[in-house]
Formats: sequence, C-alpha cells, structure tokens
Amino acid sequence: MEAEGLSYLRHVVQLAPSILSADFTRLGEVISMLNRSEADWIHCDVMDGRFVPNISFGLPVIQAVRQIATKPLDVHLMIVEPEKYLRDFADLGVDILTVHVEACPHLHRVVQEIRQLGLQAGVALNPHTPIQLLSDIIHEVDLVCLMAVNPGFGGQAFIKHTYEKLTELRELIVRKEAKAKIEIDGGVDLSNAATLAAKGADILVAGNSIFSSKDPMQAIRLLKRTAHTISA
Ligand code: DX5
Ligand code: ZN
Repeated sequence: MEAEGLSYLRHVVQLAPSILSADFTRLGEVISMLNRSEADWIHCDVMDGRFVPNISFGLPVIQAVRQIATKPLDVHLMIVEPEKYLRDFADLGVDILTVHVEACPHLHRVVQEIRQLGLQAGVALNPHTPIQLLSDIIHEVDLVCLMAVNPGFGGQAFIKHTYEKLTELRELIVRKEAKAKIEIDGGVDLSNAATLAAKGADILVAGNSIFSSKDPMQAIRLLKRTAHTISA
C-alpha cells in the first residue's frame, strides 16, 4: 500500500482537450491555442453515426489538424469496424489510436495491428462495459480509455460509477504488472479532476469544460493545476 502511495507522489496527470466542443469555424486558431497551451495531447473524436448516434469528423479534418498541431494526436474512434481504417489514420501521422471494445470482436488482432503501424494502441470502454473484459489484453495495450459518459456527444454529465471502475482498473494493471495508462473521457471538469487524478488517472480528456469557457487557455491551466493539487 505504501509503495502505491509513493508512486502517486510522482504521478503527473496529462490533459487532452477534446476539439469536439471547439468552434469549427476557427479550428486553425483553436489548434494554435492548444499548441501554446499547457495541453499535452489533442483528443480527436471520430464518430460514424452507427457505433454512436452522432457524426463528427473524419480523416480530412484530422489531416488538417495534423498539419498545424505540434502535440500528439489522440484519436478516439467511435466507429464500427475500425480495423478498416487503421492504416489511413496511421498514414496521417496520428500518435494514439483508440478503438472501442464493444466495436471489436477481434480486439487482440486490432490492437496488434495498431502497434505494428507504430502507434500507441488504446481500448475504450463504454460505461456499462466491465473492467474484467480487459483481463487478457491489459498487458498488450498502451492506454485504456474509460468512458465517463455514453459516447456520442460532448457536454454530458460525468457518471460517478466511473470512480469505482477507475479503482478496479488500477488494481488490474498493478496485479498484471501491465503498463497501460488510464484515460478518463467525458464530463471532466474542475469538480472531479482532482479526485480522478488521486485515484490514478493518467490522462484527462475535457471538451465542454474547456471550450465553453471564455478563456480556454486559462481553463486548461486551471484544470491541470487542479489535477496536480492532489496528485503531486
Ligand atoms: C464523447 C467524446 C468525448 C467528449 C468529451 O463521446 O468521446 O471525448 O468530446 O467531451 P466533454 O468533456 O464535453 O464530456
Ligand atoms: Zn473521446
């Protein structure tokens, strides 16, 4: 227990703003702001209107973002049959590619393919999907994205049961001596960032809480400070 506590002393939480909530008429300015900000990654939500009830953006927009972004692109695929598009995203130069467990009957193969393409492989879990499903793949993935809302839309309320799942996931990672990072996606704001950090989240995704702010750059700074208050 003590060793685990000490490891949290060195725990630095990273922030991945989700551009889903950004003003798309000014996407270039948004990316420039993120380049200058304390954001660590840029989270890009790809939705197909089939896996989730919404359509967002796809390859051409991410290609444009890649051309100006100076930070890693964390691409969250909320699409069916993601295996069809892995190479296309890799060719654009994205860094992290996350697929949904619920969309992949052959998840192990998909994870292998992402890694063979030279990218970090992430797997995302919907709020109802149990952590135990990761038991036989946790040592093969670079990132687990725990959805704290039902995917499809920005600006939804954080589901509090995520705290229990986060603890369970952290225990699984420790037990299996795995290296996967934990990302929390959905409803992250100043009211929950510190608790998520203290419970072992490595990356926080935040859309609405950043881009609905009058000063998104300051909102990023505040969220990072808040997350570090407890974890540092
Ligand atoms: C939800 C997306 C999230 C979303 C987060 O389907 O995966 O990344 O943009 O946005 P907020 O922080 O507004 O919940
Ligand atoms: Zn996302």
